[in-house]
Amino acid sequence: MAETFDILFKGGTVVNHTGEAPVDIGVRDGQIRAIGTIDASRAGRTVDARGLHILPGVIDTQVHFREPGMEHKEDLESGSRAAVLGGVTAVFEMPNTSPPTTSAEALAAKVAAGTGRMHCDFAFFVGATHENAGDLPQLELLPGAAGVKIFAGSSTGNLLVDDDETLTRIFSTIRRRCSIHSEWEARLRERLSVRRVGDPSSHSEWRDPVAALNSTERLLRLARAAGARIHILHVSTGEEMTLLSHNKDVATVEVTPQHLTLVVPEAYERLGTKAQQNPPIRDRAHQDLLWWGLEQGVVDIIGSDHAPHTLEEKAGTYPATPSGMPGVQTLVPVMLDHVTRGDLTLARFVDLTSAAAQRLFGITCKGRIAVGYDADFTIVDLKAERVIEDAWIGSKAGWTPFAGRKVQGWPIGTVVRGHLAMWEGELGQAAGQPVRFGEGLPQGAAQRG
Ligand code: DOR
Repeated sequence: MAETFDILFKGGTVVNHTGEAPVDIGVRDGQIRAIGTIDASRAGRTVDARGLHILPGVIDTQVHFREPGMEHKEDLESGSRAAVLGGVTAVFEMPNTSPPTTSAEALAAKVAAGTGRMHCDFAFFVGATHENAGDLPQLELLPGAAGVKIFAGSSTGNLLVDDDETLTRIFSTIRRRCSIHSEWEARLRERLSVRRVGDPSSHSEWRDPVAALNSTERLLRLARAAGARIHILHVSTGEEMTLLSHNKDVATVEVTPQHLTLVVPEAYERLGTKAQQNPPIRDRAHQDLLWWGLEQGVVDIIGSDHAPHTLEEKAGTYPATPSGMPGVQTLVPVMLDHVTRGDLTLARFVDLTSAAAQRLFGITCKGRIAVGYDADFTIVDLKAERVIEDAWIGSKAGWTPFAGRKVQGWPIGTVVRGHLAMWEGELGQAAGQPVRFGEGLPQGAAQRG
């Protein structure tokens, strides 16, 4: 008897490593079990995807969901709700919570808090500190760990490792790719007086391109010497992009939708402190080079750096205002709109948002549409024209820097392991599970201790 399926996605245009084709996808037990022409009679339920594109599930590898400790800004449920409303099927969450994710206990607590409560799948970065540097080789392999995150320049929270000795110690002992916030801390401290009270545009002058470039140069040098693989998060300057293009053997590169879309001074004039983030939004010349890097393949991945703060907090007077902006929900529509405008192809979007995460971080069974893989899909209507509004935002922050932006291309469905986490703006049952990695502990080792 022919194989049967729990759910069938029928009539959509599937965008995959093989190209674009109108094919059906049969799913059983959360896994893709068949791709081709499949009769609806073989499935318990059929989702009509005619007129829609089915993309591999979008994986956002940089979000801050604030739990534990800052749940007034966000928590794992609200952040993941925003994710699936925006078509994101899995997130990697950052360690600058309170307490920070710097121990096995803190990591296990996050995994427990997210399981079955988050709307999408998830992994958590382990934050590096001077104290836990010796434990990182074990910590990075624990279930649910996305790897090690270093703040080489300080941002929200107090995680910071900025001395050559500790960086080298970490680079030469961990095995997985290390993700890094790259700004030169000493220069940031020296230049604090560049900030002008009440003028958030001075944020981009204070945290200048030299601070980013010097830091990235140093990280590349230390990583090369130690034989480490590093991942430079939210690259914001043209000089770094050029430098990174000569160091692709060591470093992978993330850019954010906001650095690709917003420019100074216009962003500060329109958005004030809402445009304040680290590393800062830059001018058009830098942005052009980010697009050059994206077009030329220097950029590996797009992450949102979803960093929610409340409107009340953002309404303070700069520099007493926090840095960061929500982004997990707007990644897909903002970038699909760039696809519509011809800034990148749909195939490139798919690589940047799913296959790249699998490749960079060694995810098991996610990041492509293939038999045996998790049935994670981002189902989009490339023709839909919508205006992004604050009212649509599921994050506790309740605002977006893209409010009022008219876009073409919209997430219609978010499918996580065959389960409709979101369909036409309606949420399904939360059923998030930890993402699995090839470099994780061998089965049973966690229990054996
Ligand atoms: O602007 C930022 N805000 N950049 C970061 O790297 C951290 C983030 C936050 O956690 O608020």
